Amino acid sequence: MFPFSVLALAGFTLAKVSVSDPSDIISPLLWTADNAIIPDYNVPFISVQPENLPAAYEFEGNSTSITHTTFSTTLNNTSVILVANKAELDLSFVNIEKSGYASNLLWSSFYGFNAAVNVANASKAHLDNVNITVHNGAANVYVYGTDSIVYVDNSWLYSSGPVSHGVYASGNGTAYVSNVQHFSGGKRSSSFSGDSPAGYIHVSDSVAHTTGIGSATFYALGEIHASNVVALSENGPTLFMDGIQKAYLTNCETTAGLLGGVAIFSSQVRTSGAILSLKSSKITTLGADMPGLWFGNTIIDVSLYDTELVTASGILVVANYSQITQDFDYYASYLDNSNLLPAEVSVKVEESTLVGDLVAYNSSSISWSLSSHSSWTGAEYSGFGQAYFDVMLDRTSSWTLTKTTSLQNFTDEDKTLSNIKSQGFDIYYNASAVGNKYLGSKTIALAGGGKAIPS
Ligand SMILES: *[C@@H]1O[C@H](CO)[C@@H](O)[C@H](O)[C@H]1NC(C)=O
Ligand SMILES: *[C@@H]1O[C@H](CO)[C@@H](O)[C@H](O)[C@H]1NC(C)=O
Ligand SMILES: *[C@@H]1O[C@H](CO)[C@@H](O)[C@H](O)[C@H]1NC(C)=O
Ligand SMILES: *[C@@H]1O[C@H](CO)[C@@H](O)[C@H](O)[C@H]1NC(C)=O
Ligand SMILES: *[C@@H]1O[C@H](CO)[C@@H](O)[C@H](O)[C@H]1NC(C)=O
Ligand SMILES: *[C@@H]1O[C@H](CO)[C@@H](O)[C@H](O)[C@H]1NC(C)=O
Ligand SMILES: *[C@@H]1O[C@H](CO)[C@@H](O)[C@H](O)[C@H]1NC(C)=O
Ligand SMILES: *[C@@H]1O[C@H](CO)[C@@H](O)[C@H](O)[C@H]1NC(C)=O
Ligand SMILES: *[C@@H]1O[C@H](CO)[C@@H](O)[C@H](O)[C@H]1NC(C)=O
Ligand SMILES: *[C@@H]1O[C@H](CO)[C@@H](O)[C@H](O)[C@H]1NC(C)=O
Repeated sequence: MFPFSVLALAGFTLAKVSVSDPSDIISPLLWTADNAIIPDYNVPFISVQPENLPAAYEFEGNSTSITHTTFSTTLNNTSVILVANKAELDLSFVNIEKSGYASNLLWSSFYGFNAAVNVANASKAHLDNVNITVHNGAANVYVYGTDSIVYVDNSWLYSSGPVSHGVYASGNGTAYVSNVQHFSGGKRSSSFSGDSPAGYIHVSDSVAHTTGIGSATFYALGEIHASNVVALSENGPTLFMDGIQKAYLTNCETTAGLLGGVAIFSSQVRTSGAILSLKSSKITTLGADMPGLWFGNTIIDVSLYDTELVTASGILVVANYSQITQDFDYYASYLDNSNLLPAEVSVKVEESTLVGDLVAYNSSSISWSLSSHSSWTGAEYSGFGQAYFDVMLDRTSSWTLTKTTSLQNFTDEDKTLSNIKSQGFDIYYNASAVGNKYLGSKTIALAGGGKAIPS
């Protein structure tokens, strides 16, 4: 159970309600030892999904429909159900119980070993009104391979132990999820995840609650398309993204407790072209230093439409010379990855009111564009070393300064700068920057006593 403000869904009522999730029924306190297991990724790796994926019940190459039954296993390294070789399986009103450890969590991550339900190899499964409980580390539902698709509807997913994701798509697999509740108590157990080379996740009308370090609501490796998801990740961000991935969140309301509302990075060489789009959504961050949006070692375009970022830190965006490691609990430095480069973040804000600062570190840059009736109260400053900021405002948008700010490009459609409320602070703009010619290298008085000053 976790608190949730109904403002975003009801549109007009401001009230706090509690959202129930599977941890109300099975207390994570019963599974603390399981949830404390630290995944060991220092294990042998295999480069293809093997044929002999062990499972208690196997459906291969045929089409099967089953209702009103229970499937279970307690065996280590063993799935409850495997659907493989172009099979189709429909399960409805089915309970699935899984316990038993995985000795190789890389195989679990990449191929679905020990997952309760593993859909592989151009197979399809429709799970409706399914209750899946897993302990000791196992994904609830895993889908692997091009042309493998799983549908999970009206279902209840509980997991404890490490690498126990709710719905996990990998090897180009696709998952369609709706009306699902997921809880995970273990580490690296995100609710809705993709994995290498890509997983395609479509999730709607669902609830997710994770408590472990490294457990986000969404882990984008491939694509995440989410709508009407309410979520709390107590020791992770709402979204992790590594590399050139895409995440689209619409009408979501999420709370994050570690690293950032989103934590987006490249874990090897810096990549360019990742996409983050938040529409009619709200992300709240709880940590005293946590920004709403965190970026490291990546070049990315972000779109915020009718979206709120509520941060305890007062920081909306961080762009850093950094990344997130597989420990998932700190912002890493050059010592962890000698390929690090500055983050270059472009954010397009529309129909939104945002309060907070933008902070860039060590040659990173943030380009911040406000249009379509947006307003921003805040400032930009360096966290470490040189930092670069651009601000663009259209005529319908406004900026209220909370500190003196230095900019590269400073483009205001209102050339008299009357949409800026300075509160006595100044804007220094780079007189040589290509966007600033219209300012004529002049000092211009701003409403509220401050000035725009060429530098
Ligand atoms: C996938 O299908 C191929 C061809 O039918 C088969 O050789 C392979 O063993 C299958 N893999 C799994 C995991 O079932
Ligand atoms: C499909 O094959 C599995 C074994 O792979 C078998 O257990 C199941 O009964 C078969 N389903 C049908 C409808 O024949
Ligand atoms: C299952 O794994 C656990 C943890 O590694 C181990 O203690 C137990 O002996 C294993 N069970 C079997 C039947 O191998
Ligand atoms: C899993 O299986 C492997 C070999 O198949 C075995 O070495 C290992 O001990 C098993 N792990 C567990 C936890 O039982
Ligand atoms: C799902 O199954 C678990 C374990 O069997 C049970 O404790 C739980 O109450 C079930 N959930 C629902 C919503 O029925
Ligand atoms: C995933 O897609 C890529 C590109 O089409 C392909 O090369 C690769 O074999 C696919 N992987 C799997 C496991 O299907
Ligand atoms: C920024 O990155 C440095 C490492 O380069 C790290 O030590 C610092 O904690 C990071 N800060 C934030 C807020 O990302
Ligand atoms: C800043 O960037 C330089 C490379 O330009 C790098 O060597 C250094 O470690 C970075 N320092 C921090 C604190 O990020
Ligand atoms: C200003 O904007 C232009 C055009 O987008 C860009 O090429 C340039 O790098 C920006 N910064 C400066 C300092 O001119
Ligand atoms: C100002 O902009 C010019 C042109 O892009 C650039 O060469 C210069 O480094 C910028 N100055 C500062 C202080 O950032």
